[in-house]
Amino acid sequence: MDDLVRGDFREDRCPAESYTEVLERDRVPSPDYMRQGPTPDIGTAPVAASRYYDQGFFQKEVEHLWPHVWHWACREEEIPQVGDHVVYEFTGKSFIIVRSAPGEIKALYNSCLHRGRKLAVNGGHKLSFRCPYHGLVWKADGTFQENPFPWDFPQWAGGAPDLPEARVGTWGGFVFINMDPDAPSLEEVLGPLPAHFERYDFENRYIAAHVVKKVRANWKATAEAFMESHHVIGTHPQGLATIGDANSQYDILSEYVDRQFSATAIQSPHLKTQLSEQQILDSYFGGRAVMVGDQPGRMTLPEGMTARAFAAEIARKTLAEQTGQDYSHAGDAEMLDSLLYNVFPHMSFWISMSRNIVYRWRPNGLDPETSLMDIMMLRPVPRDGVRPKPAPVRYMDLDEPMTEAGKELSDMLALVYEQDMVNLPHVQTGLRASGSGTVEFSNYMESRLRYHHQLIDRFIAEGEAK
Ligand code: FES
Ligand SMILES: [Fe+2]
Repeated sequence: MDDLVRGDFREDRCPAESYTEVLERDRVPSPDYMRQGPTPDIGTAPVAASRYYDQGFFQKEVEHLWPHVWHWACREEEIPQVGDHVVYEFTGKSFIIVRSAPGEIKALYNSCLHRGRKLAVNGGHKLSFRCPYHGLVWKADGTFQENPFPWDFPQWAGGAPDLPEARVGTWGGFVFINMDPDAPSLEEVLGPLPAHFERYDFENRYIAAHVVKKVRANWKATAEAFMESHHVIGTHPQGLATIGDANSQYDILSEYVDRQFSATAIQSPHLKTQLSEQQILDSYFGGRAVMVGDQPGRMTLPEGMTARAFAAEIARKTLAEQTGQDYSHAGDAEMLDSLLYNVFPHMSFWISMSRNIVYRWRPNGLDPETSLMDIMMLRPVPRDGVRPKPAPVRYMDLDEPMTEAGKELSDMLALVYEQDMVNLPHVQTGLRASGSGTVEFSNYMESRLRYHHQLIDRFIAEGEAK
């Protein structure tokens, strides 16, 4: 698949300053690997709208994509003790992700070898899994423990086989699984990502919030709503005073890892009038309660400072108070910007010193027209060094507005997510209603979306060729 990721820097960009130029102006610099990377030209051919709803195409994804890719299934902190487990499911598959020994995690197929009942419906703590149907038992590590009717199972010599397992890998406190024994290793798939995330110490972050939203749209449509900044002007116009949307940076770094960077605390190239730095700062803090002394109020920009440099300074100070760490080395971008790394096909990890958002998208069971989106918020362990318990998962149904999750995500973020979610049912029905029958991705800003479609096609073609 190498030919897809070979390519040169392209010049067909928004004429405003580039993200790399924003980085160069920053008062505290960020690491060099954040500068513009490769974006191969992968064409402008239209994509069939039916890929988002056609049952036949969905079935190909179920068969040739999902069982062959790595999924983050949980965080290690969710299963700290032997016997702790969570259930992770996608496209009709179900796995028990269990701490099977102090230094060992297994992904057991969640299906009784007798007549198929799921062994666990929810996560929890168990040292063995007793099937509620007829009572066969497996230990937490998946090895067979007990068969109440040994005389009736000559095919198993009176016992039963051990539970089958999927592959397990870990990185940054995340537990990943893959059903395919021949798939590339997790390390190969993550490629440059672990090195780029070293400064953010994901292992020592805790789950501050976890929301799972059911969405009336195909999983790709949902994921794609969070993979480009062209939608800011239409969907989040309140953000234009404080985000570099059109001049975001999109890089395809390796076969499975790509990224998008958008600067904040600068104005959008779409705005025709030049805002003052004070206006940008006001807008940046507009949705949040800013404490000036001990009163909420308006921040006054110190003489000669940009809104971006000042906002980064405040973010450093606030975070230092929370964690007791020094952030003087942290770049302005690392304190402020939207910096998302996607791992094909359905995971997104944000770089940030203070708050790392993580996304995961999946089909909702075997329905091509609905999906699940996980939004997890990781934060640094506080200054007392005691890791807070993982926040409980908040499940949100199809028509539940994201604004209901203000407590978990902050009112400002919940509103932004609601703006994204409002589009999606109308994207799904609109795709079905399409007169052209196609989707037209833009050439640069939506190159990652197009690239993911091309990779999905490769998985399908390789699967069908077997
Ligand atoms: S289905 Fe599990 S013991 Fe029968
Ligand atoms: Fe959005």
